[in-house]
Amino acid sequence: MELNILTLCYLIGSITFILGLKMLSNPATARKGNLIAAVGMAVAIAGTIFLYNDKEGNGLHNYIWIFGGLAIGTVVGFLAAKKVKMTAMPEMVSLFNGMGGACAGLISIIEFGRLAEKLSADGGDTESTGILITIFLGVIIGSVSFAGSIIAWGKLNGKVKDFSFPGQQILNTILLFIMLCIAGYLVVNLNTANAYLFYVILTGALVYGVMFVLPIGGADMPVVISLLNSFTGVAAACGGFLYNNKVMLTGGILVGAAGTLLTILMCKAMNRSLLNVLIGSFGGSKATGGAQQTASGGVYKEISISDSAMVMAYANRVIIVPGYGLAVAQAQHVCHELEKLLDEKGVEVIYAIHPVAGRMPGHMNVLLAEADVSYDKLLEMEDANDLFKTTDVVLILGANDVVNPAAKNDPASPIYGMPILEVEQAKTVIVNKRSMKPGYAGIENELFFQPKTSMLFGDAKSVLQQLVNEIKSL
Ligand code: TAP
Repeated sequence: MELNILTLCYLIGSITFILGLKMLSNPATARKGNLIAAVGMAVAIAGTIFLYNDKEGNGLHNYIWIFGGLAIGTVVGFLAAKKVKMTAMPEMVSLFNGMGGACAGLISIIEFGRLAEKLSADGGDTESTGILITIFLGVIIGSVSFAGSIIAWGKLNGKVKDFSFPGQQILNTILLFIMLCIAGYLVVNLNTANAYLFYVILTGALVYGVMFVLPIGGADMPVVISLLNSFTGVAAACGGFLYNNKVMLTGGILVGAAGTLLTILMCKAMNRSLLNVLIGSFGGSKATGGAQQTASGGVYKEISISDSAMVMAYANRVIIVPGYGLAVAQAQHVCHELEKLLDEKGVEVIYAIHPVAGRMPGHMNVLLAEADVSYDKLLEMEDANDLFKTTDVVLILGANDVVNPAAKNDPASPIYGMPILEVEQAKTVIVNKRSMKPGYAGIENELFFQPKTSMLFGDAKSVLQQLVNEIKSL
């Protein structure tokens, strides 16, 4: 009977994960989906703690450790999620993902110890060979994910700088090959004398995780985090195999598959291959602080707040292009205020959302949803590109790379081939940013020097507030 209730808990957990994931694909249902999956996870955890029995009929007993860990994890997770700024979300995801990888690795370490003991007592069989393969996969993938995620976290918050040297990729490949060879050898020949090699594999995997992420460019970190997320899912699924735990298996597979799909989608949105992301050193920390407008001698013109307000208030259609700068400035609420004000004046206002605007998938959607911007007003890139030709004003708020025409016109540009928002087709383009500094890809934007473009310098929040005041007084 107890086992049946536990199976039911796992079934509820698995169904809510799938349902939650489905609901996460739409901004309108995403919060509810997250909550539903979290409730399912709570049911699965509670079921395991109170109802699980091993083959000998023993339940869990380390309750102080279990509840101590749960309490610490809950408090840290709750406070971190409450405090985190939208712009620091990728960092937090990376750190939490690293913890998932570490857990999966620890499971393998503990189970290896147990299996090695058992093998030295009774010798091996086919079942233990299967378990051993799963343990090695779990420890390698989990440790790579842990070490890689911590480096990614350090890079995103600026504590770790890009680092690469000639031949690094070859060295990484050799390291991976050696680890796999040792694992293969141990699967066939494990005994008490060579069991220490397991810890060589563990160390190798941690080093590999660090070396794998260190050379990858800063702008590509979200893609890497998504890839590492899929690794954590696979490592957790290995834990599910080891414990014959269905909900862990389902959860791991879902995370693994979702992470892989997201990685592919992000690469597609930037029109780059995964290999190019992994070895391309794109938008590295060296590039971001770099070139200024004056270096190239390009000429740009500025526009005042009152002129911008006037142009927008008398337009038929204004398309707002939000980017990373809008998130940094936390200007989403005042942006919504401007939108409502223009709306009242009979101006059609639409938001054009580039799939990789900001620093994580769906960044702009989440940001604007926070300010209660209606989902109907958000247009995806392809639809927005059809409208620019017939649009009077495009207001770019802290976006740069995603509107850079070099992606279409300059085969030498590192972002060449990335689909962009074709804002230059509109009648007037107003660009709000604080300076002429480049965006994350570290390259100049020729859009800023085109005759129909005007620069409106300043922090997005303050500029938008001034625009709101100005339009109110018109
Ligand atoms: P960026 O190209 O990074 O440009 C953001 C601009 O915002 C900067 O040029 C900056 O100029 C401006 N800015 C910063 N703070 C501001 C503030 N307080 N007020 C006003 N402006 C401010 O951003 P984007 O156009 O959104 O492009 C995203 C980039 O990230 C792309 O290169 C993309 O490939 C990369 N990326 C994104 C993802 C995902 S999933 N989103 C994944 C991987 C890579 P100033 O310093 O002059 O103000």
